[in-house]
Amino acid sequence: MESLGRVLVIVPTYNERDNLPLIAERLRAAVPDADLLVADDASPDGTGEVADELAAADDHIQVLHRPGKQGLGAAYLAGFRWGLDKGYNVLVEMDADGSHQPEELPGLLRAVAGGADLAIGSRYVPGGKVVNWPASRELLSRGANVYTRIMLGLGVRDATAGFRAYRAATLDKLDLSDVESEGYCFQVDLTLRTARHGLRVVEVPITFVERAVGTSKMNRKIMVEAFWRIAVWGFAGLPARLRGGRR
Ligand code: GDD
Ligand code: MN
Repeated sequence: MESLGRVLVIVPTYNERDNLPLIAERLRAAVPDADLLVADDASPDGTGEVADELAAADDHIQVLHRPGKQGLGAAYLAGFRWGLDKGYNVLVEMDADGSHQPEELPGLLRAVAGGADLAIGSRYVPGGKVVNWPASRELLSRGANVYTRIMLGLGVRDATAGFRAYRAATLDKLDLSDVESEGYCFQVDLTLRTARHGLRVVEVPITFVERAVGTSKMNRKIMVEAFWRIAVWGFAGLPARLRGGRR
């Protein structure tokens, strides 16, 4: 297995002041060599100040203060740019609310070290689980993945998953400057881009634990954006699929 180099874990936050200290502590314990970048969208609950306090006490923690709520996709793009500029070799996406367990990050990093260009922490491969989700939310998530697979012909079981590790070299190839996805379809967008570049996507089973504190930022606008963008990508890619070419 190759050595990975420097790892940056990007955690986007919007109103996560009670969750952030706990997730930061768990990450620092689970993967002490990794750095943490909190990408906060000027959370009204003061998450940004909590992040500043954590950063002041630990030089493995940094904060990217963003001017306002611009969506998960925009926060990650800004975080990726920050990390690529600073020369990180692996860029990780992880939620702040404890749904993605830092203790499972070494498994994702092992997949990258083993040759994956993108490792996805997957709920829907054998061994993957979801804990504490109402049936309605699991149905929505599974339905979104079935829709995505049919529309895009992707072989990925959990294309909307938000616990991931990208090689810097992967992100360099994805033309991030023209990504328009604002909400959670950002995850599908980058999965599709990675697959279309012929890069290696590996799904690692994880246990996704629904948050105990705070509220989900999922809303109708995020769902509608995902629905129509995936349809547009699907139809745009259809001729190539019919020819049996790229996916
Ligand atoms: N900076 C910023 N800006 N952060 C945001 C924004 C935003 O506009 N919207 C959400 N976040 C942060 C939250 O604070 C949290 O840390 C993380 O993004 C995930 O948000 P949740 O609201 O907890 O998402 P979820 O649990 O409903 O959705 C999960 O499942 C989705 C579907 O599979 C996440 O894992 C998503 O990444 C995933 O796409
Ligand atoms: Mn969540």
